[in-house]
Amino acid sequence: MTADAPRPPHAPRAATAGGPGLFLTFEGGDGAGKTTQATLLEEWLRGQGREVVRTREPGGTDVGVRIRDIVLHHRGHIAPRAEALLYAADRAHHVETVVQPAIARGDVVIQDRYLDSSVAYQGAGRVLDADDVRELSLWATGGLLPDLTVLLDLDPAAARARLDADDKPFDRLEAEKAEFHERVRVAFLALAAAEPERFLVLDATQPAPTLAERVRAAVASRLV
Ligand SMILES: Nc1ncnc2c1ncn2[C@@H]1O[C@H](COP(=O)(O)OP(=O)(O)OP(=O)(O)O)[C@@H](O)[C@H]1O
Ligand SMILES: [Mg+2]
Repeated sequence: MTADAPRPPHAPRAATAGGPGLFLTFEGGDGAGKTTQATLLEEWLRGQGREVVRTREPGGTDVGVRIRDIVLHHRGHIAPRAEALLYAADRAHHVETVVQPAIARGDVVIQDRYLDSSVAYQGAGRVLDADDVRELSLWATGGLLPDLTVLLDLDPAAARARLDADDKPFDRLEAEKAEFHERVRVAFLALAAAEPERFLVLDATQPAPTLAERVRAAVASRLV
């Protein structure tokens, strides 16, 4: 290939191409309510008789737990490209060994964070190019995109107040500056605007049961 030849495009495909299941992801800043909504959705789906796999990134596999420990709790500097590759390595292993088999079985996969988090956080760090981070993830996963991504949009100060009330310890990312979290929020909203058919954006200040109802409606329309 010559230097100025166009790069081959990745071909993102719908997750359902890999099987009869559904791949759902929750995105948003720390404390936005992802775990709360994932739990409510799981309960509802199980009540509908669906098999549900709850999983997370980073850390959804044995390998991933070790990678998560490095990424979130390493005390020194991690080179930005190394950090992006660590997330991508976790994702590649997780998608191949957990997500794809579940979709192939016909299960519903509910995942806490996926490639949109990588793009939003790495991009907000202003060191790596957001498109590069997205392409890296798509390469790692063979182009797997969720059937539905719920973005819980919340002002970082409000999210901080929720986590303080919970007395949750800061991890490495949470300890970053407020301005960084604001850039993450803007980045998430831009990703959602670019793929309106994949994203459901919710105002996360609404009560949890109200949000859960909106999520259920979006999932129900994809189950048929
Ligand atoms: N809609 C809501 N309104 C008010 N408080 C909420 C709402 N949803 C969740 N909370 C509360 O906010 C806190 C954080 O919620 P949760 O743990 O679900 O968020 P999260 O996005 O999973 O956070 P983390 O990024 O830390 O995993 C909890 O105390 C939870 O009870
Ligand atoms: Mg959570």
